[in-house]
Amino acid sequence: MRRRFVVGITGATGSIYAVRMLEMVRAHAPDVETHLVISPSGVLNIKYELNIGRRDVHALADHTYSFRDVGATLSSGGYPTAGMVVVPCSMRTLAAVAHGFSDNLITRAADVTLKERRRLVMMVRETPLNLAHLRNMTAVTEMGGIIFPPLPAFYHHPKTLGEMVDHTVARVLELFDINVPGPHWQGTNPSDAAASAEAAE
Ligand SMILES: Cc1cc2nc3c(=O)[nH]c(=O)nc-3n(C[C@H](O)[C@H](O)[C@H](O)COP(=O)(O)O)c2cc1C
Repeated sequence: MRRRFVVGITGATGSIYAVRMLEMVRAHAPDVETHLVISPSGVLNIKYELNIGRRDVHALADHTYSFRDVGATLSSGGYPTAGMVVVPCSMRTLAAVAHGFSDNLITRAADVTLKERRRLVMMVRETPLNLAHLRNMTAVTEMGGIIFPPLPAFYHHPKTLGEMVDHTVARVLELFDINVPGPHWQGTNPSDAAASAEAAE
């Protein structure tokens, strides 16, 4: 049986991360099937940032659900999944999950993922952060969720925005044992390490 991977897209900026994640899973993980829910604000941002519609993103997933359908399979712990990612994750959805508000299918599926002790990764995106945001991230972490802000790395020398995005997406997928091609950290090379040691003297 293919592993069920739940993807929630909310209205934070960074919808490109969600689109690339769906594309990468489809291209490189035939043993994984994606189950997608998009919030209305997520649809708005997809249109605004990528100039594509909900149907275009739905076409990248294996199964799609209505945001309001809290009776869908994903809302039950009796429907086994390999976990869930919220990508990108708004502060509104973070707050709802932190406080157990299962008021739509994204927050309900996240709640189920936590209660069943499955892996939940929330790619939260806001800056700067207020105390409510920080406390909500702490609460989700205390419940077993993983807070993974989509912050770009530079050590792999990305040349394009796409390379930056893909690197972050690959790191998140690794948390679900979904391996896609991409640069892996090989350790500093000896000359850089020597320069660093010299600077410390
Ligand atoms: C262009 C745009 C960018 C936004 N970016 C963010 C963001 O980065 N983080 C955030 O928490 N909310 C952001 N918002 C606000 C959310 O979309 C809004 O709080 C919404 O109620 C979230 O609902 P949802 O969690 O159900 O998707 C943005 C809204 C728009 C229109």
